[in-house]
Amino acid sequence: MEKIIIFDTTLRDGEQAPGASMTSPQKLELAYQLEKLGVDVIEAGFPIASADDFKAVEQISRRINKSAVCGLARCIKADIEAAYNATKKARRARIHLFLATSKIHMQYKFRKAEDEILELAKSSTRLARAKCQDIEFSPEDATRTERNFIYRVIEEVIKEGATTINVPDTVGYSYPQEIHSLVSDILNNVSNINKAVISIHCHDDLGMATANSLSAVLAGARQVHCTINGIGERAGNASLEEVVMAIKTRRDAFADFYTAVNTKNIFNISRLVSGFTGFAVPPNKAVVGKNAFRHESGIHQDAVIKKSITYEIMDPADVGFTEAKLVMGKHSGRHALAKRLKELGFVLSQDRINALFSDFKALADKKKEVYDDDLIALAEEKTRDTKTAYGLIFVKVTTGTGITPQAEVKIKYKKKIFAACSSGDGPVDAAFKAVDKITRTKAKLLDYRIEAVTKGRDALGEVNVKLNIKDKIISGKWASTDIIEASVRAYLDAINKIIS
Ligand code: KIV
Ligand code: ZN
Repeated sequence: MEKIIIFDTTLRDGEQAPGASMTSPQKLELAYQLEKLGVDVIEAGFPIASADDFKAVEQISRRINKSAVCGLARCIKADIEAAYNATKKARRARIHLFLATSKIHMQYKFRKAEDEILELAKSSTRLARAKCQDIEFSPEDATRTERNFIYRVIEEVIKEGATTINVPDTVGYSYPQEIHSLVSDILNNVSNINKAVISIHCHDDLGMATANSLSAVLAGARQVHCTINGIGERAGNASLEEVVMAIKTRRDAFADFYTAVNTKNIFNISRLVSGFTGFAVPPNKAVVGKNAFRHESGIHQDAVIKKSITYEIMDPADVGFTEAKLVMGKHSGRHALAKRLKELGFVLSQDRINALFSDFKALADKKKEVYDDDLIALAEEKTRDTKTAYGLIFVKVTTGTGITPQAEVKIKYKKKIFAACSSGDGPVDAAFKAVDKITRTKAKLLDYRIEAVTKGRDALGEVNVKLNIKDKIISGKWASTDIIEASVRAYLDAINKIIS
């Protein structure tokens, strides 16, 4: 059997989804989880993009042991140097170079001729290879690139030392048969292709990213780029859970292949990414949606009880899908909490566990039963960066039928306490307006969602907000048994991300 290398780009292409930005501690936490999941390569970011990106890639490179850590770079010297410097401490470092090769991109984006692009691809690969042994090269917009030109580019960059050739369907334009021919044609027309691994990178603009990725595997690709929950630029990328579970489930079609992914961790990591990014997983999402293993019709329920394979093609336990479990109560101790968090996949320092323990006790006092999902919500909050943060001290709202809602808010910032009052269309609006007076951010609320984390009237209410601040879309999230408090903290979470 041949291994399909899983290249996860949740931290790079996934984070490029508008509003999906994560803080450095969240990125590090996710990298640990990806390593635990068994992905072969973690694309940790685009180091030249910002000081924060650089720092995150560098930190992940130092801490990750098993997976290779990759930094993205354009074919520009400064990018390559930044990617090298950010990943050089990794046990297994990779630099991923990309350069558009389609006529549309060369003409309108670069205003460069084929020969100039070819030279740039060659010299950049040479420079990167002089610094790092593991070089991946992507001819961006490959699926709209002329065949003869793509063969030339690939052949030349392999000569310069590229070890993986990635084929991006950058705009999600292709369909499975077309991807199959492209990969087969590359294998048959590039004389030195046996010196590199062929990889595939599909976007989901026409809803075919997973199908296209699998078609590439059948044609000879041995690495797949994907993201958790399929998040990514525009309509997203091929989703890791779909690609991996298709290979695992359809043993007839993919008999010759396997991945190293420990599928039992899929559900937890999906929940984590959704929490960090504020991107809810649609209930009908394949593999990880809440309804993926729920049977509503009586006929289906009856058949599943008799024999699950009647309507279930995967065992829910194989992707870690379990019903909410009652785990702890107010008498549970610190060790039990730390143990359960570890089982849920969180790698937290003792300081964070201590802080989380007080939150857990406070929650256990309010709620009779504390579920795994409650713990996950609390643990996610502990991965937030609080150094430069606005912290909520107090919020009070007065509202009722026929009266104008009023809010009073106190916020701590850089050791000072600020207070403001405001009225609004509703209690949440009034509270947000009071926050705006203190933070002086002109935030436009694009989306507001509230969901109960677990069952019962005392459930934590999880609020997700999406804001537009200075033309940047940013999301924030918080969970609390008090939904006004959760709303204000989610709003501040988004603002804090912008200022950090
Ligand atoms: O979609 C794309 O082409 C990319 C490249 C950087 C590989 O994300
Ligand atoms: Zn992409």
